[in-house]
Amino acid sequence: MPKPDEPARKPEGFILAEPRTAQEWENYFDLRWRVLRQPWGQPRGSERDDLDAEGFHLMVRGSAGAVVAVGRLHLNSPSEAQVRYMAVDETCRGRGLGSRILSGLEDRALSESVTSVVLNARDSAINFYRRHGYSVEGPAEILFGEVRHFRMRKDLCP
Ligand SMILES: CC(C)(COP(=O)(O)OP(=O)(O)OC[C@H]1O[C@@H](n2cnc3c(N)ncnc32)[C@H](O)[C@@H]1OP(=O)(O)O)[C@@H](O)C(=O)NCCC(=O)NCCS
Repeated sequence: MPKPDEPARKPEGFILAEPRTAQEWENYFDLRWRVLRQPWGQPRGSERDDLDAEGFHLMVRGSAGAVVAVGRLHLNSPSEAQVRYMAVDETCRGRGLGSRILSGLEDRALSESVTSVVLNARDSAINFYRRHGYSVEGPAEILFGEVRHFRMRKDLCP
């Protein structure tokens, strides 16, 4: 059983942890940019926002230390949290890493006594979130003129 401050190890050498060192933060934002911004020609820096300073961040590191999955949680209100910037390296998808990030963010939301989690899902990710108990509430923003999003919500059971 890992101690509370010990990063969680699971099969295949992947480690779930919060970014702490300057290098980890650099790798964390780099993955965000490569997955969520670069394909649409967006500049470095566009992957960050003002809520990063107060948000709760998780990453998965591979056995060689590379950051292969990331995600962030922030509070919209005392009872509602929002997940943003979920990204898994293309070569590591379908191995449960996105699920580990999302579950870790939800655990944090529960520990803050939050009762529901919302997110704006890309078209292509809606079914991933459905598998995790989220339901579509309606259309959300269209990013870069082409990436349609849908508002989704999950009520948490303490
Ligand atoms: C969406 C994303 C975060 C999922 O991460 P992942 O590590 O590939 O997902 P997991 O391996 O944890 O998948 C968990 C389950 O969801 C399913 N799933 C994963 N991605 C899916 C998708 N896009 N559509 C449908 N089902 C999906 C998996 O098959 C798996 O099902 P199972 O439990 O029956 O085996 C990842 O594919 C990604 O980074 N996509 C590009 C960026 C993106 O769209 N981010 C979300 C922005 S809103």
